[in-house]
Amino acid sequence: MMLLGTQKVNGKNHLEIGGCDVADLAAQFGTPLYVMDEKFVREKCREYKKAFELEYGGADIAYASKAFIVTAMCALVDQEGMWLDVASAGELYTAKQAGFPMGRVVMHGNFKSGDELEMAVDLGVKYVVVDSFQEIELLNVIAQDAGKKQEILLRCNPGVDPDTHRLIRTGQEDSKFGLNIKDGSAMQAVKQTLGSDALVVKGLHCHVGSQLFDLSPFIDSAPIMIEFIKQIVTETGASIEVLDIGGGLGVRYLEEHNPPSVDEFAKTISEALITACAVAGIEKPRLMLEPGRSIVGEAGTTIYTVGAPKEVNIAQDPGTKTYLPVDGGLSDNPRPSLYDAKYSAILANRANDAQTKTYTVCGKHCETDNLISNIALPEAKTGDLLAVQTTGAYNHSMASNYNRFTRPAVVFVMDGKADLVARRENMEDLVVCDLIPKRFKGSTAPA
Ligand SMILES: Cc1ncc(COP(=O)(O)O)c(C=O)c1O
Repeated sequence: MMLLGTQKVNGKNHLEIGGCDVADLAAQFGTPLYVMDEKFVREKCREYKKAFELEYGGADIAYASKAFIVTAMCALVDQEGMWLDVASAGELYTAKQAGFPMGRVVMHGNFKSGDELEMAVDLGVKYVVVDSFQEIELLNVIAQDAGKKQEILLRCNPGVDPDTHRLIRTGQEDSKFGLNIKDGSAMQAVKQTLGSDALVVKGLHCHVGSQLFDLSPFIDSAPIMIEFIKQIVTETGASIEVLDIGGGLGVRYLEEHNPPSVDEFAKTISEALITACAVAGIEKPRLMLEPGRSIVGEAGTTIYTVGAPKEVNIAQDPGTKTYLPVDGGLSDNPRPSLYDAKYSAILANRANDAQTKTYTVCGKHCETDNLISNIALPEAKTGDLLAVQTTGAYNHSMASNYNRFTRPAVVFVMDGKADLVARRENMEDLVVCDLIPKRFKGSTAPA
């Protein structure tokens, strides 16, 4: 059994997280329930800051809110003295509602609308990470109209292809993100910005991909980014103070997964950048990072109630298979369907019982929404609790109302206390945006 963060099995043979018995959490808040291990999240934030302090002399760590965002998470990130990466008006609005200081916000998006850019400028977002020539033009006009100077980072495409799922690979040349360094587009964008009235180029950005165990894409992109900084300084005289290298560090979904530690990550990246700067003969830029998954991924556990196990006989492949349904699935965790993502789970109310059965854990949506194929668990029965681990990143933030399911609640747990940070949606929430046009009213069908 894989235990992460503060997870342990207590004297009742129940899974405990943050000192809270998962069975008590399920009884109090209902299921499905996202449980976030607050101590784990805070420790990860501190680990990042400390490791980069040691290896690079400090870095601004911007938590990538796309991984998991509610107002309480923004407040926690603020308390930890981190920056925040937002990638939409909605994420920016959430940060604002949480009172997050805009001087520590970085705004992303490959196609930011005029409204999103206006909002960023009005709120005083520190850096807008620009991603196209047209966006530079539009942002310049918006900043000019607002009578402001807007600092920007330029998203670059370093042409580095990481080994991860194709949908979360972003550093390769064939990508919608960033401006290509090799073909000259990035330099053209820098010059366009330098010629603008209201934009100030502060630095460069790149993000090569997500859920990376192999750090070589970071080692490969370091000299490319540093050489490009040198080229900008030489050709234009502009000073490039900041290098934001995005996020990407992988996490443990399965017991056999062995992602690099934050310390290893910091050491590898810092060495690569410091070496590249020495070779290029330039000062090392101020470093920014945008970790998302590695801050919250392993901190999250989803608690489900189990339904009736169903045994099926498979004629083509003689034998039986047992489906174990849970009261959620695709709508609270689309990753297995999207990315073929793998998960581990614990039968939370009989955690240490012998794992005598193999199950396929399935959701309750109108497709084959298997969450986990072939997992060994204790023999399960209706009403048991299943804790699916490492669901802190890209689960709640990717949840939907498919089949008109209500999105689960989120609780933060620490030192035996559980605090609700997002209530469960209710039936009214499901119809709150719906409207029935007048002409649809008055049925002509027989009652
Ligand atoms: C620009 C940018 N920064 C940061 C991240 C966070 O990546 P991760 O969650 O892998 O750390 C992403 C993820 O897609 C991203 O696109």
